[in-house]
Amino acid sequence: MSEDLADTHRVIEPSVLYLGTPAYLVATRNPDGTPNLAPASSHFALGRTIVLGLEEGGQSLDNVRRHPELTVNFPSASQWQHVERLAGVTGRDPVPAEKVGAYEFEPHKFERAGLTPVASQLVDVPRVAEAPIQLEARVRRVTEAVTGEFGMVEAEVVRVHAAREITVEGTDHFDPEAWHPLIYAYRHFYDRGVEVGWTRKTPFAVMPDPVERWELSGGTWRVVSFAEDRATVELLRCDGGEIAEVLTLREPRELRWAAVQAIVGRGAHSSG
Ligand SMILES: Cc1cc2nc3c(=O)[nH]c(=O)nc-3n(C[C@H](O)[C@H](O)[C@H](O)COP(=O)(O)O)c2cc1C
Repeated sequence: MSEDLADTHRVIEPSVLYLGTPAYLVATRNPDGTPNLAPASSHFALGRTIVLGLEEGGQSLDNVRRHPELTVNFPSASQWQHVERLAGVTGRDPVPAEKVGAYEFEPHKFERAGLTPVASQLVDVPRVAEAPIQLEARVRRVTEAVTGEFGMVEAEVVRVHAAREITVEGTDHFDPEAWHPLIYAYRHFYDRGVEVGWTRKTPFAVMPDPVERWELSGGTWRVVSFAEDRATVELLRCDGGEIAEVLTLREPRELRWAAVQAIVGRGAHSSG
């Protein structure tokens, strides 16, 4: 191991590892048929499977063990206060010993949050009407964590509802620029920042071929102007930096590339 690491990092013992993930509201079915709704952030999704980390002793985990259906509702950053309204309540009655004092029983979670239940299409648990992304899911397996503190709920997403304004009309794509998940990091809520890049699989942005070729051959470039319908890029020689060529971009994916370079301050770029 490099000695330098000792100077740049230190060993800490944080009480939680909430590194910054989208918060969601999980709706489940209570024994009396009413819906429960709880804020959470622990999850990952791969393919059509979503895995939620739900604590033992919570009403939500009890509910999915009994009735294996749920909805996962992702609010936008601007809706954080609705999430926070549920932070001190549980659907569990009586309140479990470890939560006494810090939580109170609330049987009407939707009302408490100021949110509206809307019937799902394939599962018997409502969605949150105001949430831009609503997933209907069937629970396939609940695995107890080795620590016994939470359950890993593996659920198959059977229907995805997306607000029109965060989708690309005429496609099944989300518009990543329009979607603002509510990021939960170390007990604070954040909106996401500006776009800084993308993977090569994106259908929305691409580095123009001549720029990529120029960069690969060792040249540099800079975006000198960009607008909605037109951007200008200068290709610069690596020896001295004089302009070798001026490109005008008009293709939407190339315009998106140019706009992002300018926004992240990479208007002048060197491959070195
Ligand atoms: C922003 C936020 C994120 C949370 N993340 C989780 C989580 O990932 N898993 C979990 O079980 N509880 C999480 N909680 C705590 C639960 O919401 C809380 O324990 C609640 O009482 C559960 O409600 P229930 O007992 O009705 O299921 C989170 C709470 C907030 C406010």
